[in-house]
Amino acid sequence: MSATVKATPSAPIVPQGEQLTYSSYLKVPELLKLQQPQSSPQHHDELLFIIVHQTYELWFRELLHDLDAVVANLHGAATNPGSHDEVYEAARLLRRCTEITRVLVEQFTILETMLPTHFLAFRGKLEPASGFQSEQFRELEFLCGLKDEKMLRYHRPTPEAHAQLERRLREPSLHDVFFDALRARGSLQVDVKATDRERFEARARAVLSLYRDERSHRDWIDVCERLTEFDELVVRWRLRHVQLVERVIGVRMGTGGSAGSSYLKLTLDKKFFPELWEARTLLTQ
Ligand code: HEM
Repeated sequence: MSATVKATPSAPIVPQGEQLTYSSYLKVPELLKLQQPQSSPQHHDELLFIIVHQTYELWFRELLHDLDAVVANLHGAATNPGSHDEVYEAARLLRRCTEITRVLVEQFTILETMLPTHFLAFRGKLEPASGFQSEQFRELEFLCGLKDEKMLRYHRPTPEAHAQLERRLREPSLHDVFFDALRARGSLQVDVKATDRERFEARARAVLSLYRDERSHRDWIDVCERLTEFDELVVRWRLRHVQLVERVIGVRMGTGGSAGSSYLKLTLDKKFFPELWEARTLLTQ
C-alpha cells in the first residue's frame, strides 16, 4: 500500500514582538505620510499627481542603482578584456533598465485620466516646482553621458543634490566606459590628434566592426542592442511626456519657467549613444 504524503495545513504566521513585518521592512507608514497635497480644500486629483511623480522618482533611483552596476561591469571588462562575465552581467542589468523604462513610458496614461481643468485647479500651488528640477532625472542624463554643466545652477537650492550632480559630471559616464572597454579589446583606435568629429566616427566604426563579425562578438552586440534600446526608450519617454504636457496644459509655459512643450521638443534629439545609431547608417551588405 502506497502511503500518500499530505502537506500539514499551515496558517500564515502572526509576527511576534520586534519581528520584521511587511510594513516595518518597507516602512509603509512612513511612505504613506509622504504625500502632502498643497491644495486646500484638497483637490481629488492632486494625490494622483503626487503619487505618479513619486513612483517615477523611485524607478529613477532603481535605474541609477542598476546603471551604476553596468558602469562598474563595463569598467571591469575594460581592465580585463578577455573576460565574458562582466559583459554578460552588463547586458543582463541593461535588460532590467529597458524594462523599467518601458513601464515609465506606459505610466503617463494614468496621469492622462486627469482632466486639464482638474490640473489647472491646483497647478497654481505648484509654482515654481517642476519636473525640470528632478535631480535624479538629471543624474541619469549625466551618468549616461549627456553632461551639461549649465544644469547645475538649477540645483543650487539643494546643496546635497548639487554636490551629487557635480560628482556625476567628473566621473566616467556609461558612454565613456563602454568605449573604454572597446578600446581595451582592440576594437577602437583613435589618433591622439584626432578632432571631435574624427573621434566620433572612429567610435561608430568600432561599433560597426562588432556587427560585421557577429559570431566573434555576440556578447558585445548584445550590449550594443540593449544600449540602443535604452536610448530609444528614453526618447520615447521624452515624446510621451511632451504629449502628456500638451494634453494637459497645451502650449503654455511650464511651472518651472520654460517655454513648456516647445522647450521639451528640443530635447527629443538627445541621444546617449549617437555612435550606435551612426553605425547603422554606415552598415552595408
Ligand atoms: C500634468 C503633468 C505634467 C505636466 C503638465 C508637466 C509639464 C512639464 C513642463 C512644462 C516641463 C518643462 C519645464 C518647465 O518649464 O516646467 C517639464 C519638464 C519635466 N518634467 Fe514634466 N510634466 C508633467 C508630468 C511629469 C511627470 C509625471 C514626470 C515624471 C518624473 C515629469 C518629469 C519631468 C522632467 C524630468 C522634466 C525635465 C525634462 C528635461 O529638461 O529634459 N513630468 N514638465
